[in-house]
Amino acid sequence: MRTQVCIIGGGPSGLLLSQLLHLKGIDTVILERKSRDYVLSRIRAGVLEWGSVEMLREAGVGDRMDREGFVHAGTYMSALNKGFRIDFEKLTGKKVMVYGQTEVTRDLYDARDRMDGVIIDEADGVTPHGLDTDAPYVTYVKDGTEHRIDCDFVAGCDGFHGVSRKSIPASVLREYESVYPFGWLGILSETPPVSDELIYANHERGFALCSMRNANLSRYYVQAPVDDPIEKWTDEAFWDELKRRIPEDAADRIVTGPSIEKSLAPLRSFVAEPMRWGRLFLVGDAAHIVPPTGAKGLNLAVSDVHYLYHGLVQHYQDKDDSGIDTYSQKALARVWKSERFSWSMTKMLHRFPDQSAFDQRMQEAELAYLESSTAAQTALAENYIGLPF
Ligand code: APR
Ligand code: PHB
Repeated sequence: MRTQVCIIGGGPSGLLLSQLLHLKGIDTVILERKSRDYVLSRIRAGVLEWGSVEMLREAGVGDRMDREGFVHAGTYMSALNKGFRIDFEKLTGKKVMVYGQTEVTRDLYDARDRMDGVIIDEADGVTPHGLDTDAPYVTYVKDGTEHRIDCDFVAGCDGFHGVSRKSIPASVLREYESVYPFGWLGILSETPPVSDELIYANHERGFALCSMRNANLSRYYVQAPVDDPIEKWTDEAFWDELKRRIPEDAADRIVTGPSIEKSLAPLRSFVAEPMRWGRLFLVGDAAHIVPPTGAKGLNLAVSDVHYLYHGLVQHYQDKDDSGIDTYSQKALARVWKSERFSWSMTKMLHRFPDQSAFDQRMQEAELAYLESSTAAQTALAENYIGLPF
């Protein structure tokens, strides 16, 4: 088989890139290791920057998002059990869309299927070859038979644990990482959200977040030791801890119920450079990871896709390689700014194991300053709604 762009990974990065390139008549094949059901069972974050909203609409997959998503003009922050609101719209003229990543992925799969996109699920042993030549190709095994796809370019959209980043020689690859000494314990519950907008809570017992998926599906998180056995966190234990950490008025009105999903995820900041080597481009989680505090994971994948998509269209339509030649530099410039924002939000809102009473006071003072300062709120808002592509 031959294609123009072979995409390794059928998550949001790979699907969105494939969909956008298809609309420009550029052929792709997606090789996904897992089954469709497995990919669609993943519960991930749910905040879309407005740039991501516009990219999904451009890809022709924005209808259900526009119908079912929640447009939020601001968010609540809290410390010492007292909340305050940051008004994104007033401060930046922009808003965000709350719409689950699982739904974004589902919408992208539906669009790829409608347009007869070539997606090979349960592809084993996916291996890129000849990335430093003019004739790269990718091999994989499906139902016990080895296959080969010759292509012009390979898009490594295969996430943090994928094969693409590892295909860049160690002498070329530079990796930067910070692993946080805690995790996020998250639940989904079929209950009405406690607030019309998100609540990010700093508390001396640890961070908490109140989010949602729809009018009767809430998403809540509490910071927890990353090695806690999930069995320790009964629903009752979760709700009790969440109520301790969020503002009192929210704790008093929250509707609790059985969890329909419960998981504990580690937090890390990670960046791999460069995001291009020869005919290979790294996209999304294959190149970078952020702690979910700033809701940047999916949105960074979208901005990577934006830069690569436009670069590949320029290559094929205008025989101009300036876009793909500057992909890594452009993508990384935005990645590092989002890494900084996600890191700073995580430092401000979480309790670190070695944190002193003074450190807690510094966090509380930072939040008090944020509450009092239009300049500080504008700085947070412009990062949260998304820096320009
Ligand atoms: N071969 C084929 N597919 C692979 C391989 C491999 N060797 N390794 C991983 N994959 C697949 C995974 O099964 C997954 O479906 O690549 C896909 C990568 O998807 P994501 O991990 O979701 O990464 P990405 O598409 O970049 O999306 C980033 O999704 O995971 C969240 O927090 C992340 O919000 C961010 C967004
Ligand atoms: C979510 O709704 O899952 C969510 C929202 C905001 C975040 C992280 C996760 O910062």
